[in-house]
This record gives sequence, C-alpha cells and structure tokens, in this order.
Amino acid sequence: MSRPLALCLLAAGKGTRMRSDLPKVLHEVAGLSMLGHALRPALECGAERSVIVTGHQSARVEAAARALVKDAVCVEQSPQLGTGHAVQQAETALADFEGDVLVLYADTPLIRAETLARMQARREAGAAVVVLGFEAAEPAGYGRLVTDTSGALDRIVEAKDATAEELAIRLCNSGVMCVDRAVLFRLLAKVTNDNAKGEYYLTDIVALARAEGLACAVEVCDEAETLGVNSRVDLAAAEAAFQARVRLEALERGVTMTAPETVYFSHDTAIEADVIIEPHVVFGPGVRIATGARLRAFSHLEGCAVAGGAVIGPYARLRPGAEIGADARIGNFVEVKASKFGAGAKANHLSYIGDAEVGAAANIGAGTITCNYDGYLKHRTGIGAGAFIGSNSALVAPVSIGDGALIAAGSVITENVPADALAVARGQQSVKPGLAKMLREKLKAAKDALRAKS
Ligand code: UD1
Ligand code: CA
Repeated sequence: MSRPLALCLLAAGKGTRMRSDLPKVLHEVAGLSMLGHALRPALECGAERSVIVTGHQSARVEAAARALVKDAVCVEQSPQLGTGHAVQQAETALADFEGDVLVLYADTPLIRAETLARMQARREAGAAVVVLGFEAAEPAGYGRLVTDTSGALDRIVEAKDATAEELAIRLCNSGVMCVDRAVLFRLLAKVTNDNAKGEYYLTDIVALARAEGLACAVEVCDEAETLGVNSRVDLAAAEAAFQARVRLEALERGVTMTAPETVYFSHDTAIEADVIIEPHVVFGPGVRIATGARLRAFSHLEGCAVAGGAVIGPYARLRPGAEIGADARIGNFVEVKASKFGAGAKANHLSYIGDAEVGAAANIGAGTITCNYDGYLKHRTGIGAGAFIGSNSALVAPVSIGDGALIAAGSVITENVPADALAVARGQQSVKPGLAKMLREKLKAAKDALRAKS
C-alpha cells in the first residue's frame, strides 16, 4: 500500500520561445496538451490531489486543467520568483494533506508512470527527498546532482552557481521530486534567493534536508523522458519521441505495422493485438480498433470504432461517430461520419455516409452520397440489412431504405423505400438511332466551310 500522493504541477512559465498566443503547456503532443501529458502519469500513480501553479494566461491554463481533472486546484504565482517559490504557492492548498508531494513540470510531457512509481518506492524505503536524475549527453544548463561516495544525494547545484569541478558532473536534475508534504514546506521556508539568478530554488531543499540529517536519494531515468519543451523545435522533438514510444508499445502488444515510422497515433489510440496497419495511417483522438481489423494505407481515422475483420481503406476517412461492424469494407475515398455501419456491409468506392444507419451486409455502390445536410439541419438516413444501393445514388435525408431493397444506379431518392422494393428515380433513357453520326457530319461540314473562307 503506497503512501497518499498529491501532485504539484509547475505551469507558470511564459514560454516566450514558443512564439505563440497559446500558453506553452496547452500546446499538444499526439493530440493531448502537454499539461495533460504531465498529469497522466501522476494520476496513474494514484495522485489524489492535483495543485497546478499557473502564471502566464492563468485563466486559460486553469480551464484546461479543470477539463482534465475535475477537482484540480489552481494557484496563481505572480511574480515568478523561481521553482521553490512556485511550489510554495501550493502550501495552503495542501495544508491538510498527509502524504507525499510529487513536483512535476507541465512542459515536460514524456515522464513515465513507471518512473514515478520507482520514486515513490524510494520514498517508502526511507529517503526524505527523492530527485529524478538522468545522465545528460550535454549537461549544459541543468542542475548537477552532487552525490556522496555511497551514491546518496548531498545537494543540487545549479549550472550558473557551479564550480568547474561540479560542472563536470554528468548526473543532472530532471526537476521531478517526491517529498513528504510536511518536510517539503518546512524546508522551502528556509530557502533564500542568495544565488546567481536571485531566485528561490526548489533544488536547495536537498542540502537543507541533509543539514537536518535526512536522507536524500536519486532515482535515475532515461534522458529521453526528461525532455522539456521550450520551443517549437522541442515540441516537434517531443512529438517524435512520443510517436516512437507508442509505435513500439503497439508492436510489442501484437499490432503489425509494415512501416511503423509512417503511422501517427493519438495519445489515446486503442488498438488490440492482431490488427494490421499499413503505411501512412493517421489517428486522431478517440479511435478503437478490434482484433483482426486491417487498416490499409493512407487512411485517416478519428473518434471511431472498427470491429474485427473489417478492412478500412486504402484512402478511407472515418470521422467521429463512425462505428464499423465486423467484416465490413470501407474502401478508397469513402468517408463515414456519425454512422453505424453494419456487419459485413460494404462501401468500396467513393462514397459519403453521414448520419446514417447501414444494416448488415448492405452494399453501397460507388459514388453513393447520403445528403444529410439541408444547409440548416442534419438529417438521418436508414439503409436496411441486405439493401443494394446502385452506384451514384443520392439519398436525400431524412429517408429510409427497407431491408433487401434495391435502388437503381443514379437515383435521387427523396421518399422512403419499403423492404424488398425496387426504386428507380432518374430520367428515362431515350435512344435516337444514327443521330450521333448525323450530328458529327453536320458539325464537320460547318468547320470545313469556315476553313475554306480564311
Ligand atoms: C530547473 C532546475 C534544474 C533542472 C532543470 C531541468 C531549479 C532551480 N532548477 O532549472 O536543476 O536541471 O529545471 O529542466 O529548480 N517555473 C514556475 N515558476 C517559476 C519558475 C519556474 O512555474 O517561478 C516552472 C517553469 O514554467 C518550468 C519549470 O518550473 O516549467 C522549470 O523552470 P525553469 O526556469 O525552466 O528552470 P531551469 O532554470 O531550467
Ligand atoms: Ca528549463
């Protein structure tokens, strides 16, 4: 049974280098804000309370936080006097909390829940302060973790305050910490701003804890997890890293991808084992794909569910509310929106199926369109089980086609068609024998006469 956990998420920074009107932490990675990415692993580790320290555009950040965690508490930090000062803003909100506080940055979207769980375990094993560290390829501006001969953490020195010897340390501070609530705020009260930046450093609590004889520990993670986003270049790097991670997870779960590097997932894409994904498939949010489905190349899916045995694409588009039944076929240049598409039904070419209910084993001919919108309202189309819709038909909603009905190609259907009926709704064909040849001769003669004059 792990100790109660509260999250203190730092999200006050302005993010000037993003060059954006949108607060930095609301920029998205795989369709979820970085704020959401930072919250997720903490919630997975059982954080009971979330305190978010906002600053720049606090109202927008607060609204986004509340949408993600209903009872999130937002506190504004103004002015911003450093990471220690930022965490202090959460003191009142957590005054009655008995347990550990996990400090995370909202602009660091790749931290894993497993990593945080290891930090929690270190806390339970007795370290008063647990810091997440990493071996930096280029330590540059990171805080350095100064350890004793046993590997225990002695203090953190910021790059700007470090000696040449300390700068040679490769073990760096990710910024993530796990500390008992009472210890955290007791130590923070002792932090001063007597340093190179004139800021209240959260990192100073390590030396203060040691001075009290408390044990401090480093838990190490992969540098890739600690990637912090300060610019669009970093944001693109975070996206690439996240995509690489979820592709690998999908492959390991039993999803086949012939060219995984061309498949783009959303943060919440749910794909079962034995799904085949061909190259260049893109997922928006809210997609579920069941075992045995195949997603063919260049398809785009969002907010939809695909059952086993269904084949989607190539070049198909499934939009929100599309539910594709078992063994159904959605072929090239077919768009489906807010529609239930029955088991074994087919729309193999060039169709728009919107606001419709398509029965099992119905066959939708090439070019069929459900005319669902009159310019003001959306209307529904019903297509019965086993119905056959001839190519290039327009089904003007609201309209319903009965089970087993047959619609002649090129029909414009404006009235309901009963089960097993045949509906033809198109101009009648008339044939004039020889007329084409006559017309051609007449036109050629006219052209020749013009040429002769000039
Ligand atoms: C901080 C750490 C450093 C670590 C590095 C990892 C301190 C003193 N230094 O340095 O050891 O290696 O992160 O990236 O903690 N923030 C606020 N309010 C403030 C100041 C910062 O909310 O008053 C937020 C920022 O928005 C950001 C995070 O805290 O998300 C870190 O702040 P930043 O200024 O980037 O810290 P660094 O100097 O990089
Ligand atoms: Ca930073």
